[in-house]
Amino acid sequence: MPTPTSVLFVCLGNICRSPTAHAVMRARAKQTGVELTIDSAGTAAYHVGKAPDPRTQRAALDRGYPCDDLRARRVDDSDFERFDWILAMDEDNLADLQARCPDEHQHKVRLFLSFTDLSDPIVPDPYYGGQGGFEEVLDRVEAGVDALLTHLSRQ
Ligand code: 4NP
Repeated sequence: MPTPTSVLFVCLGNICRSPTAHAVMRARAKQTGVELTIDSAGTAAYHVGKAPDPRTQRAALDRGYPCDDLRARRVDDSDFERFDWILAMDEDNLADLQARCPDEHQHKVRLFLSFTDLSDPIVPDPYYGGQGGFEEVLDRVEAGVDALLTHLSRQ
């Protein structure tokens, strides 16, 4: 793995899916002794400065991933320079990032779950649903983080 490798997880609000990915990735990286720069951001500014949604915090903590220290921010133009990987949770996030990203950095932008063999490689937006949607986010994010770490370890 080239060091240091840096990863930015991106969803819409940066209070549900991308902070979950951030928290799972940092916990797994710590467990395995992998040195990574990890951050998360949203394509929209609705929740800038807020902690993760309480449902996100509960679902993540139940599986051992505290995330109450994280605060939402919006994707910044400098992120396209700073990060090696800019990973979108769904096709809308991907399209928004691709529209903003300078040509020379487009290769960094892809779907987070594209490293898995899932046939539908997206993390669905859980915001307007029930707690079950947050469990699905955790299931998918755990699979995505494992696949990403495997990919990075082979680079
Ligand atoms: P996220 O979820 O993109 O996974 O953080 C959402 C959070 C907030 C909203 C939509 C999705 N919202 O419309 O406020």
